[in-house]
Amino acid sequence: MRTKLVAGNWKMHGSLQANQALLARVKDGAAGFKCLSAVCVPFPYLAQAQSVLAGSKMAWGAQNVSEHAQGAYTGEVAAAMLVEFSCRYVLVGHSERRALYGESDAAVAAKFAAALQAGLTPILCVGETLAEREAGITGEVVTRQLDAVIAGSGVAALGRAVLAYEPVWAIGTGQTASPQQAQDVHALIRRRVAGSDAGVARGLQILYGGSVKPGNARELFAMPDIDGGLIGGASLAAEDFLAICAAA
Ligand code: PGA
Repeated sequence: MRTKLVAGNWKMHGSLQANQALLARVKDGAAGFKCLSAVCVPFPYLAQAQSVLAGSKMAWGAQNVSEHAQGAYTGEVAAAMLVEFSCRYVLVGHSERRALYGESDAAVAAKFAAALQAGLTPILCVGETLAEREAGITGEVVTRQLDAVIAGSGVAALGRAVLAYEPVWAIGTGQTASPQQAQDVHALIRRRVAGSDAGVARGLQILYGGSVKPGNARELFAMPDIDGGLIGGASLAAEDFLAICAAA
């Protein structure tokens, strides 16, 4: 049995004052759950997450990382810097990064490698747009995104990472993939990995993301290949996030 993971993605939300209450509440709530839990916060709040969550069951992480170790890359943040704030996780290749900031499969693969190299656990996000789903190429798109990372880091590297299937059409839209739609893609991802390494495929945590709410989490997490969730909007409300953790 794979342990479930519920990871919050705050995106570009928060303030020092609001975070304090949210972090304290989720930290207390998480203490009672069997699942793993984490929050991925904006860079300026990593020190706050570290100070509030240190020693608790709730891990923390960032939402992006540079592929470079250091140098003249204005505005970028290196993986080693995230390690200094005791991050466990970092999101890599979130669809908003791919779509709004032009991150290519190759760039995502390089970020994934940099995160692993520093000892972080990358949460690699893959997923198709609505147009791609309607064109019937969901499998092709997700496989291409995954293969870029396998080509760069090798399949064994996935054993030290987490995957998140996030259909772009379900993110922030209130339109969740049905449990069966999500399960189908999760199973496809696991089969693809199993083709190269059955052991890695068996142990691989594959999260579902896209409008996960307290009301739909339980049926999603009941599917055999869904190992938890990547939670955007609902991670900003402590009670919703904790209810999703409870469902896991
Ligand atoms: P959502 O976002 O839960 O608000 O749909 C998920 C994500 O983008 O990670």
